[in-house]
Amino acid sequence: MSKEKYTVTAALPYANGPLHLGHVAGVYLPGDIFTRFLRMNGHDVAFVCGSDEHGAAITLRAKKEGITPQEIVDKYDGIIRQAFKDFDISFDIFHRTSEQLHHETAQDFFKVLDANDEFTKESSEQYYDQEYNQFLADRYISGTCPNCGHDSAYGDQCEKCGSTLSPTELIKPVSTLSGKTPIMRTTSHWYLPMERHEEWLTDWIQEGKLDGVQQHDPSKWRNQVIGQCMSWINAGLRPRAMTRDLDWGVKVPVEGGDGKVLYVWLDAPIGYISATKQWANDNNKDWKDYWTGDRKLVHFIGKDNIVFHAIIFPILLKAHKGLILPDNVPAYEFLNLEGDKFSTSRNWAVWLHEYLEECPDRIDELKYVLTSIAPETKDSEFTWKEYQTRVNSELAAILGNFVNRALVLTQKYYDGKTPQPGELTEYDKEVVAQMEAIPEKISKLVYAYKLREAQAEAMNLARLGNKYLADTEPWKLIKTDPVRVETIMNLALQITANLSIVLQPFLPGTAQKLSEFLNFKQGDWSNGGLMDQLSAGHQTAKPSILFPKVEDDFIEAQLAKLEASKSVESVFDQQKEDTNFDDFMKMDIRTGTILEAEKIKKADKLLKLLVDTGLDKRTIVSGIAKHYSPEDVIGKKVTVLMNLPPRKIRGVESQGMILMAENGKGELSFVGPEKDFKSGCGIH
Ligand code: 2FM
Ligand code: ZN
Repeated sequence: MSKEKYTVTAALPYANGPLHLGHVAGVYLPGDIFTRFLRMNGHDVAFVCGSDEHGAAITLRAKKEGITPQEIVDKYDGIIRQAFKDFDISFDIFHRTSEQLHHETAQDFFKVLDANDEFTKESSEQYYDQEYNQFLADRYISGTCPNCGHDSAYGDQCEKCGSTLSPTELIKPVSTLSGKTPIMRTTSHWYLPMERHEEWLTDWIQEGKLDGVQQHDPSKWRNQVIGQCMSWINAGLRPRAMTRDLDWGVKVPVEGGDGKVLYVWLDAPIGYISATKQWANDNNKDWKDYWTGDRKLVHFIGKDNIVFHAIIFPILLKAHKGLILPDNVPAYEFLNLEGDKFSTSRNWAVWLHEYLEECPDRIDELKYVLTSIAPETKDSEFTWKEYQTRVNSELAAILGNFVNRALVLTQKYYDGKTPQPGELTEYDKEVVAQMEAIPEKISKLVYAYKLREAQAEAMNLARLGNKYLADTEPWKLIKTDPVRVETIMNLALQITANLSIVLQPFLPGTAQKLSEFLNFKQGDWSNGGLMDQLSAGHQTAKPSILFPKVEDDFIEAQLAKLEASKSVESVFDQQKEDTNFDDFMKMDIRTGTILEAEKIKKADKLLKLLVDTGLDKRTIVSGIAKHYSPEDVIGKKVTVLMNLPPRKIRGVESQGMILMAENGKGELSFVGPEKDFKSGCGIH
């Protein structure tokens, strides 16, 4: 295989939370395996990534945690960065989109496109939150999905059915900032007229051709990627706004851009370029070598990122002129966890940094399991039970057992020295042939982005070795035919040496340990599959156990932890920002009694209540009609917030608020005095 040039990217994770195993299995680990493999094959590779620190994902998280967006990105960039390091993901650089270099790079990129007349500027009516004085694009607005009816789709995407949306398509839109129904207001933005690019995009995606020149082999692209892109194109490409009315992000660098920032999906992929620039600056290289010419650009992403990497970013790259387009966009489906979707908001996740803290010596075990179940062509599932089975029955029972037998018997029979082989039997020759064929099989699979099968093929070498020892039984033969045992053990050691080569991309820590046990420097991929890795007399070392068994109590503890975390974080909101005593004392809260209740026409959530507050009898509109009928509530002792300014709700003036407890499952309960206190008692 000729030496080629690659720039490999892994989707920049939002710095709005830690990484979970779903992210790892479907982006970072495959990207790492692919890159390690390329490096071993002598290709010229840059592997870049970084934190995605702009966009609503960040500001909404900051609001939830009650800290600034900068504090949020600093916190999560730190956690993510450390987790990647501890998990030994071999990025050449892990950058940040909050870096000055990134802001400059993204602004320059924008200016080039603007100067090339690649944008149009248009005014339009957009949703606006009057309480927060903010336009509501993307995740700032949610509502019912027009395609699948999911009731919390975002303004840019429905996470349930995966369709891409615009805010105006949402049914019953509400602001995710205030929870209120937004109004319409006029604003102007820079748009990318994607419809101008339809023709070449179609040729490029379906045929791999650009200006009639073959750029990539479309048969190597996953069906899901081509399918999603073509359904987007066939539905008709439309202009897409490339700027937003926000203050958190990369400022729009041209006239008229005040108060506006770049759309995060313009900003983030340019992060691949700015990361490359930083790395090039740090290493005396020229970043342009990595984004121009005959270099293959490969984006590892999750399926929710397909159109951004296979349509929008390619349009931007082409419009910029002179930059390469992706050679492939290996997109992964989703990994589920114990029968449910991974969910940061519901805290249903196995967090990478927590796993690494708890099991710092079990890195390759996790890598192995995640690659074995990687969602390459369809969604797949992580369960702790399967983790245990794969570690115990595959890693320990096959790979660990084989390597241990080969090395321990060599210690026992030959003081660790590689024995001289005699003449090979037919069976030996067959085993050697199978061993020699494995690296080529793995290569083909890796170049086809079939990493799951590629790892299984590497494990087949351990299976081959394990079976060879089980069939030839050197531990019995040593008494009757010690000369034959020398050949058997030599072959077993050659298999072990080859394992230390072919396992490198998948299980780098294990491959390293094998090379230490063997006292053997693995070399590159072209060394794989050879019979004479270790010459006769070569001294090997005493091995240690490669994969200690995963016990039942570990699995039970993990399952219990998962259940417990779900019940704490998912049910209740986090503590709000601090208030102060004076503000609290301004609130007039008293006991009250509901005297009358009736439904409000055409408002299925509301009840109109007449409440005795001790001071007066007043009308309060309360959103409890889905939980209580009017008859249920008459006579109830309640808590009333008295001095909320009167507000008209569905034509009825509400003079206060009834306080309710909510149990996290959406159920409500009145909060009244525990003793028989009359109405009007102050609550402090
Ligand atoms: O979906 C995500 O997590 C995004 N932060 C991915 C960005 S990929 C690239 F464009 F930077
Ligand atoms: Zn939907």
